Amino acid sequence: MNAVLDVKSLVRVFRAGGQEISVLREVSLSVAAKEFVAVMGQSGSGKSSLLHITAGLLPATAGQVFVDGREMTALDERARAEMRRHAIGYVFQNFNLMPQLTAIENVMLPMRINHQDPRKEEARVETLLRHMDLWARRDHSPHQLSGGELQRVSVARALVAEPPLILADEPTGNLATKAGQEVMNLLRSAVDEGGRSVLMVTHNPYDAAKADRVLFLKDGQIDPAWELGRGEVHASAVLDRLKELGI
Ligand SMILES: Nc1ncnc2c1ncn2[C@@H]1O[C@H](COP(=O)(O)OP(=O)(O)OP(=O)(O)O)[C@@H](O)[C@H]1O
Ligand SMILES: [Mg+2]
Repeated sequence: MNAVLDVKSLVRVFRAGGQEISVLREVSLSVAAKEFVAVMGQSGSGKSSLLHITAGLLPATAGQVFVDGREMTALDERARAEMRRHAIGYVFQNFNLMPQLTAIENVMLPMRINHQDPRKEEARVETLLRHMDLWARRDHSPHQLSGGELQRVSVARALVAEPPLILADEPTGNLATKAGQEVMNLLRSAVDEGGRSVLMVTHNPYDAAKADRVLFLKDGQIDPAWELGRGEVHASAVLDRLKELGI
């Protein structure tokens, strides 16, 4: 199996206020090595839930998730956390930075947790932060940073340990066009030059058009018939499909 990510018949039901909502109804998808896949869907369609479950941050109601050939959904909490640390870089929709750490400390946190020697990686971290226009802000804490800066710190943190799989939840959602393009270029080069795989959720058809394939989540399902495959991904095709599906 050369898929870095395989999601099989994933189901998630939420129970709230005496109601049950089936957010994901047998969702299946896979992301190959060195592949960039985008997922689009309306607000509330279950995109963040899908990424949370994929990373093992939220339990599935049913179904399986395989990362690098290992079944995440079958691991105990400890093994799952271990797997997440080594195999997955996560860009959270709400950033999830540690408020008591500075920008550079937040970026380097995955390395520390993985017991990598941060001194050995200093040059690489500096290049990454300069590239993301964060170097001048490296000693600021999150409350001193703008929304766009927080988002860039969050992207840098997901990339820094060079995990095989990057899950990105609206990584350009708080950025102006130019900064957003810079983040998209970084994700694209993480795939093309870094050999990583990316699963990205986005509302932006132009960002989705940077992916190799685009999937559409609607009514809890990702129908393969809706997919824009390799060679079919252009912003105009993405816009047409969104219109067709009423997304
Ligand atoms: N813990 C929870 N308990 C109950 N309902 C939840 C819970 N988490 C999410 N939901 C519901 O599940 C649905 C999907 O939420 P999710 O955050 O995955 O959507 P989304 O596609 O990421 O939306 P957005 O584009 O606004 O970020 C929503 O209707 C949400 O209210
Ligand atoms: Mg979301």
